[in-house]
Amino acid sequence: MKYHIISIFPESLKSYLESSLLKRAIENKVIDVLFYNIRDYTEDKHNKVDDRPYGGGPGMVISALPVLSAVEEALSKSDKALIVFFTPHGESFSNVMADEIRGEYTDVIFICGHYEGVDARVTQILKTKNVSIGNYVLTGGELPALVMIDAITRRIPGVLGDELSVEENRIATKEPYTRPECFEYKGEEYCVPEVLKSGHHAKIDEFRKGE
Ligand code: ADE
Repeated sequence: MKYHIISIFPESLKSYLESSLLKRAIENKVIDVLFYNIRDYTEDKHNKVDDRPYGGGPGMVISALPVLSAVEEALSKSDKALIVFFTPHGESFSNVMADEIRGEYTDVIFICGHYEGVDARVTQILKTKNVSIGNYVLTGGELPALVMIDAITRRIPGVLGDELSVEENRIATKEPYTRPECFEYKGEEYCVPEVLKSGHHAKIDEFRKGE
């Protein structure tokens, strides 16, 4: 899976992508992430990415043409691409959507808006899939892009080793415990439930079902 990130702050995603599981997936060439700074696709001498909204109102709107040029470049490096536009009014992201995308596409192009949004002609021309990651308003699309990359990538077979199959085929625990077996905190003792130390798998599954 190849992810293309179109943003005015592409740097802001890098530290997360260079950590832990996603870093390993990139190193193992299971995924690739390409960045496109919208500013690089502007044609005026000040590299202006935004302008005032027609009809008035607060804030600035990201101009259509640099975004369209960036998407064109991403498309030229793609095979079967889905173009995602982030908006709180979009379709709710879920594991089901993650699996559909993983199954149908080789490339996902994320358009990360900011300020008061992106000129509406971008979504009209590109017929984007408009996605929301929850019922709250964020300042931009970079965090939603990371959320989608993380959720899709961890479902690619092999990325989690057998952790995902263990998680989904066995009874996953909502309450994990690790060492030490007991500790004291503010005068109280906290111990791991006995059954988890029994080595009795049927009983452990029963206990986890009860959670
Ligand atoms: N942009 C701003 N808020 C958002 C949200 N909740 N989901 C997706 N994109 C957004």
